[in-house]
Amino acid sequence: MPTLTLTQDGSILTISDLPHTDSIRFHAIWLRDNAWDDTTRAPGNGQRLIALRDIPTDTHISHAELVHDIVRLTFTPENKTLDYSIGWLIDNAYDRSATPTKGWTAPQVETWDSGLMDAVPLADFNDVQTNPAALRDWLALVARYGFGKLVNGPTDTGSLFKVVDLFGYVRDTNYGRHFEVRTEVNPTNLAFTGLGLQAHTDNPYRDPVPSVQVLYCLESSAAGGENMVVDGFRAAERLREENEEYFDVLSQHCARFEYAGDDTTCLRSRRPMIELAPDGEMIGIRFNNRSAAAITDVPFDKMATYYAAYRRLGEIIDDPAMEVTFRLNPGESFVVDNTRVLHARKGYSGAGTRWLQGCYADKDGLYSKLASLSATHQEAAE
Ligand code: FE2
Repeated sequence: MPTLTLTQDGSILTISDLPHTDSIRFHAIWLRDNAWDDTTRAPGNGQRLIALRDIPTDTHISHAELVHDIVRLTFTPENKTLDYSIGWLIDNAYDRSATPTKGWTAPQVETWDSGLMDAVPLADFNDVQTNPAALRDWLALVARYGFGKLVNGPTDTGSLFKVVDLFGYVRDTNYGRHFEVRTEVNPTNLAFTGLGLQAHTDNPYRDPVPSVQVLYCLESSAAGGENMVVDGFRAAERLREENEEYFDVLSQHCARFEYAGDDTTCLRSRRPMIELAPDGEMIGIRFNNRSAAAITDVPFDKMATYYAAYRRLGEIIDDPAMEVTFRLNPGESFVVDNTRVLHARKGYSGAGTRWLQGCYADKDGLYSKLASLSATHQEAAE
């Protein structure tokens, strides 16, 4: 049976004797702000009806009691009694002592290298279109690994939009609603067809960057031309393990990216190649040799180290032990988290044509779809 204890001044509540966790503490102001009664939150949509200014500065708890699995608290000076589900409090506890590792990743993220080659996240196009549980499972794979492939789709032009429709909305850019990737492979001039692009994230010169890219194959008769992906998070982890100073210099200083390919476009961004949240969570990778601009935000004394780190990160990205390759046949497509996973196309080894269509979207919609499907189809999963 959990027990509740208040500090003398009523500013902190401690819940002890919990079955699976140590005692956890909550501040009175946090509890009051997170009340779920119908004067604090709108019953229909759960949106908060009050602002922090509506809660007195000297808010404290004058009484606490446990009623079954409900924590009942009386707040003064409002003299307001509010109920909290103990399960909700445990789920939302913030009282932890461990300092997270710099460059930590969210629990649902699993970083990978070429070992994932035998288990490329995959689903059937028709399945994910017609079965919400299959869509949920595939989106969960995309969230976990940062990319996912779909097979057995149609080969009509514009089919890529049906992929985006599964989870979100197309992001229009100056390249249009979508872009064409057409390659005619001429056997007499193969040297110019196998242009090996270094694995990269797309459009790092945008802010915000398009967080999802979809590539859809409509025709493919040329041998070779496989798609290749590299987990940028794993590459950054490897850099950190090898040389923490390199990881630090790339995450603590901004790079600059620019694209001014026509008279009406001049896109610029100033962001680090390895982006961390203030608490050290790894949240983004930007890596693209073609659009890197002059780096001017690194102190003089650190520039040599910065370049050594940039070079080493590139070497890790180029290491075949990091890459997963797969072929896209007509009707097949893949979705990639452009804030994490780098992509490239391998060279061709024979004549033929290849036609892909690509577009951008955003992963907030993808995560929203995943979360809502997970809530709705929980029972099916169990
Ligand atoms: Fe690209």
